[in-house]
Amino acid sequence: MRTAAILIGILTLAMFIVCSTEGVERSPNGIALPQDFASWQLVAPSYRTDNGTIRTILGNKAAQEAILSGKVNPWPDGVILAKIVWKAQVSPDWQGAIIPTDFVHVEFMVKDSKLYRETGGWDFAGWVGKDLEPYGKDRSFVEECFACHQPVKSRDYVFTKPAFLPKIETK
Ligand code: HEC
Repeated sequence: MRTAAILIGILTLAMFIVCSTEGVERSPNGIALPQDFASWQLVAPSYRTDNGTIRTILGNKAAQEAILSGKVNPWPDGVILAKIVWKAQVSPDWQGAIIPTDFVHVEFMVKDSKLYRETGGWDFAGWVGKDLEPYGKDRSFVEECFACHQPVKSRDYVFTKPAFLPKIETK
C-alpha cells in the first residue's frame, strides 16, 4: 500500500515537473543540461533512507529503446540517464505516504563508449538547487561520481534496474 502510494505520487509528480532549462550554465566538463529531461520516461523510482530523499531515474529515448529490447548491459551509446532528487517528507494528507518537497539536484550519466572510455564509457554532470548551478569546480568532479559507481561496475556502472511494468494488451 505504502509503496504503491509513493509510486503513484512520484509518477504523477514526474509528469508535472515544470522546469525551465534556459540560460543554465554548462557543467565544467562541457555537458549542457538536456532541455527536455523532465519529459523523459521513468526507469525506476528510489528512496534513500540514509538522507531522506526521493529520486526518480529517467531515461531519454535511446534509454527507453534499450530497456524495451533488453540491452542494458552495456547500455548503448546515445543513452542518457537522469536522476532527479527531492527532499522527502511524510504527507500531511496521509501519514503512510512519503512525498517529495524541495528540489535538491538533478544528475546525468551520458553514454559514449569511445569518447568517455576512461570513465567506463560514461560522462557525468549535475545541477544543484532551484537555480540549477552546475556541480563541480572543474572536470575532476567526474572522478568522484565514477568512483562511487564502482560497486556496480558489472552492470555498466548503473545502479538502477528498470522497474517492471506489465505488458498492456487491450482486448
Ligand atoms: C556516494 C556515492 C555516489 C556518488 C558520489 C555519486 N553517485 Fe550516482 N548514484 C549512486 C547510487 C547509490 C545510485 C542509485 C540510485 C539512487 O541514488 O537512488 C546512483 C544513481 C545515479 C544515476 C542514475 C543511474 C544509476 O546509476 O542508477 C545517475 C544519473 C547518477 N547517479 C549520476 C551521478 C553523478 C553525475 C555523480 C557525480 C556528480 C554521481 N552520480 C555521484 C551513488 C553515487
